[in-house]
Amino acid sequence: MKKHLRNLLSPEELTYIYNSYDIIGDVAIIRVTEMTRKHSRIVAKTIMEVHKNVKTVLAQTSPVSGDFRLRKLESVAGEDRTTTMHKEFGCLFCVDVEKCYFSPRLLYERMRIAKQVGNREVVVNMFAGVGSFSMIMARHSEVEKIYSIDVNPVAFHFMQKNVRLNRVFGKVVPIQGDAREVIEKKLPHVVDRVLMPLPEKAFEYLPYALLALKKAGGWIHYYDFEYAKKKENPIQKAKLKVAEKLESLGVVFKIPFGRVVRTTGPNWYQVVLDIRINF
Ligand SMILES: C[S@@+](CC[C@H](N)C(=O)[O-])C[C@H]1O[C@@H](n2cnc3c(N)ncnc32)[C@H](O)[C@@H]1O
Repeated sequence: MKKHLRNLLSPEELTYIYNSYDIIGDVAIIRVTEMTRKHSRIVAKTIMEVHKNVKTVLAQTSPVSGDFRLRKLESVAGEDRTTTMHKEFGCLFCVDVEKCYFSPRLLYERMRIAKQVGNREVVVNMFAGVGSFSMIMARHSEVEKIYSIDVNPVAFHFMQKNVRLNRVFGKVVPIQGDAREVIEKKLPHVVDRVLMPLPEKAFEYLPYALLALKKAGGWIHYYDFEYAKKKENPIQKAKLKVAEKLESLGVVFKIPFGRVVRTTGPNWYQVVLDIRINF
């Protein structure tokens, strides 16, 4: 994009423009600051020229925040709307990007998890959003059922819609509510695998992930943010933190795999750990 902008902005102006943006369906989301806001239309028009399928450009004016993990968006160019249809590995995700969380950047992670799911497994996705991890798993594995919980009523509505779009009735079971309450009331000891794709709450909710697992044990996919200086290893730090917690809960476990999902800021990383629980 910066190559295209070279003719329109000065070299100094260019240095302040974020070079990365997300494309969700036919909507592009750019990041602007007070300093770059005045250039947002030029940037938006350039994106629409480069990506002919983009019909709407929105500017993100706040970080992702709150329980529902939402961000403030402003319409910059094209059609004034926030709902779109995103395609990924043959699945369709209908999503309102203003009222629900969705990241197209997690596609590798979604498929990585789906590939691990065994025949007739029962799974709970504790923080399912519009059902992105759940739909990919339903369509690309031999899973029996994925209980898919989200506390945001709008995300729940889109998840129901996505169940119909992807024809995964009975496989993806949308549940609206707080994951802790849902597991305590409806899902103790019923699943083989737990997904925790909410780094802000995964640590706090670990006891409920354990509660959901069958007495024979199973897998937990645990997401967290980790701060690590140059010589530190963020995966190792996350492993130590989780190991200490699981030991205090008297659980038998192994953490055979961990990876950095993405860098989220200077020295900050989003990490995932695949944890085997044996009780
Ligand atoms: C980071 S998003 C991930 C959504 C989805 N897994 C994805 O990757 O597209 C986390 C989701 O957890 C939901 N959430 C937050 N707190 C929750 C809770 N206590 N119980 C259930 N869902 C919750 C939010 O509404 C949000 O949709």
